[in-house]
Amino acid sequence: MNANKLELAKRLSVIKPSATLEITATAKAMRAKGIDVIGFGAGEPDFDTPENIKQAAVQALNNGFTKYTVASGTDELKQAVAEKLRRENGLAYEPGDIVISCGAKHSLYNIMCALLNEGDEVIIPAPFWVSYPDQVLLVGGVPVPLETDERHGFDLDPEALRAKITPRTKMLILNSPCNPSGAGYPPRTLEAIAKIAVEEDIWVVSDEIYEHIVYDGFKHVSIASFGPEIRSRTILVNGVSKTYSMTGWRIGYAAGPRHVAKAMGMLQGQVTSNPTSFAQSAAVEALRGPQDAVRTMVAEFAKRRDVIVSSLNEIPGFRCFNPVGAFYVFPNCSELFGRSWNGKKLTTSLEVSAFLLEAVKVAVVPGAPFGAEGFLRLSYATSMKNIVEGVKRIRQAVTMLQ
Ligand SMILES: Cc1ncc(COP(=O)(O)O)c(C=O)c1O
Repeated sequence: MNANKLELAKRLSVIKPSATLEITATAKAMRAKGIDVIGFGAGEPDFDTPENIKQAAVQALNNGFTKYTVASGTDELKQAVAEKLRRENGLAYEPGDIVISCGAKHSLYNIMCALLNEGDEVIIPAPFWVSYPDQVLLVGGVPVPLETDERHGFDLDPEALRAKITPRTKMLILNSPCNPSGAGYPPRTLEAIAKIAVEEDIWVVSDEIYEHIVYDGFKHVSIASFGPEIRSRTILVNGVSKTYSMTGWRIGYAAGPRHVAKAMGMLQGQVTSNPTSFAQSAAVEALRGPQDAVRTMVAEFAKRRDVIVSSLNEIPGFRCFNPVGAFYVFPNCSELFGRSWNGKKLTTSLEVSAFLLEAVKVAVVPGAPFGAEGFLRLSYATSMKNIVEGVKRIRQAVTMLQ
C-alpha cells in the first residue's frame, strides 16, 4: 500500500466540519442515549413544510415528474423565481439569469467555483455563516474577515470595508438578515456598500435566505436594487429552506448577470445535474401559493425571540443583542472568561459551550467558528418550553462558576 497515493486530497486539509451540524449531531447522539439535552443548535425551522407545498410534490410524483430536468432547473421554477424577485424585491430578472440548485449552500459553492481564482481575496463581514470561509478556501480563495461591532448592531462600517480592499479583492459576501447575529443592514449601509463595490469593481454575493424571517417592521432590501451598476456586480442568493420550512427539500437559487448564470449552469451540468425534479415543483407552489404559513411561523419566532433575548439578558455575564431577523440569538459571554468550573478556567467560547453541555446538558454553538470569539449562537427554532427550560439551565450553570 502506498500511503502517499492513497491519502485524501490536499484541498480538504483547509476546511473543517460544519460546527453547527456537529453540535446538532452531538446533541442528537446524547439524546439517543437517553440524556435529557436541550438543543439550541438547529439551523432549521421546527415547523412542518406547509401542506399545499407537500401536495404539489405528491402531484408531481403522481404525474410521473421523476426524470432529469434541465441541469440549471425547470423553466417553471425559474419563472416563479423571476416573478418573486420582481414582486418582492423590485428586481427584473429573466429566467436565463437564474440558476436553481440543491439549496442556497450549493448556489454559493457554484458561485465560488465560477468566479474565484487561486489567491483571490473575499471579504466576509464577521460574524459570518460558517460555510462562507470554507467554501472560499476550497476553491483556493483567501477569506478576509471584516469585523463588525455588537455595540453598533453588527452594522458594517463602509470605511472599514474600504480599508480591507486590496488589488486582490474579488468579492464581498453579504448576509442580511445574518446568521448568526440576526442583524439586518439598513438601506443606508447597503447604499454605501454598493457605491464602494461599484467604485472598486468587486462582486457582491448577497445571501438573502432569511429575508422573510424579520421582526419589528424590519424590511429586507436587496443590495441589487440600488441601481444597474451594483446589480450587474451582484449575485443574489436565496432559497425556500428557511421561509417555507423546506430544509430537507434542497432547493436554492441564484440570480445574476447572464454570463455568470450560464457558467454556473454549465458547472452544475457536470457536477450534480438538476436539483430533484419534484422538489422543484414543490418550490413553485411555495413561491406562488398562499403565504399565510410564513406569517404564522414568523409570528411564533417573534414571541420566542422576545423571551430568549430578555431572559438571556437577565443572566449575569451574558449580553444579548436584540436581532431583527433570522432565528438565532448571539449573546456575548466573554464576561465569563477567567471564571472556573471544577478547577478548569473558561477562556474560549468553545470551552463555555462544552461547559454548558457537560454541566447542564444544554447544546449551544460557540462563536469562534462564526468569526466572533466571546459569543455563543443559540437557535430559537425550538419550542417555547425548551427555550424557557434551556435558559433556566444556563442561568443555573453560571451560578456553578467560581
Ligand atoms: C446564511 C445561510 N445561507 C445559506 C444557508 C443554506 O441554506 P440551504 O438550506 O438553502 O442550503 C444557510 C443555512 O443554514 C444559512 O444560514
